[in-house]
Amino acid sequence: MRLAILISGRGTNMERLLEAASEPGYPAEARLVLSNKTSAAGLDTARRADVEALAIPHRDFEDRESFERAMDRALQERGIEIIALAGFMRVLTPWFVGRWSGRLINIHPSLLPKYPGLDTHARAIAAGDEEAGCSVHWVTEGVDEGDVIAQARVPVLKDDTAESLAERVLIEEHKLYPDALAEACRQITRRPAS
Ligand code: GAR
Repeated sequence: MRLAILISGRGTNMERLLEAASEPGYPAEARLVLSNKTSAAGLDTARRADVEALAIPHRDFEDRESFERAMDRALQERGIEIIALAGFMRVLTPWFVGRWSGRLINIHPSLLPKYPGLDTHARAIAAGDEEAGCSVHWVTEGVDEGDVIAQARVPVLKDDTAESLAERVLIEEHKLYPDALAEACRQITRRPAS
């Protein structure tokens, strides 16, 4: 499946997806990395991996939907079949989510349904949770609400800060996302044609 990865920053999850997608037999092939920020470090990483990297700065558009229409055009032009959000920090409108429904997945640094939104690690520590983790899920209109495809868990340690916990979770994100993306591709392929 022709894959696009949407990022906003450093793109370490994107890098793991690009590595997986370059393996023979992997069910997705990276065609585009798209960022809403020209400064995203992940764009250079993608170029070094010989994958097209494109910035569409959201600030250049007067509203959310015209920004998303520009992204949608870029995705359609390249025949994209599945989109993986990897640290893409813009909330998507119902229009965009509806257009890509069933072909749009996200990685989130919590054990959903716990802690949708921001500051997930600080919230897990403040709540006294004994474990934390990450989830890959289908994207639906509600923020971080879609069905979970896969999760990974880590312990929360006594002296953890949000930063130390984020580091431990990120190691699991890097292992989880390539497998979960492959599973999402398989689920799409198994769906009856509409
Ligand atoms: C990752 O931890 C990802 O789970 C999180 O942003 C980080 C991006 O890191 N995503 C969200 O918080 C989405 N709501 P990366 O750019 O190095 O992959």
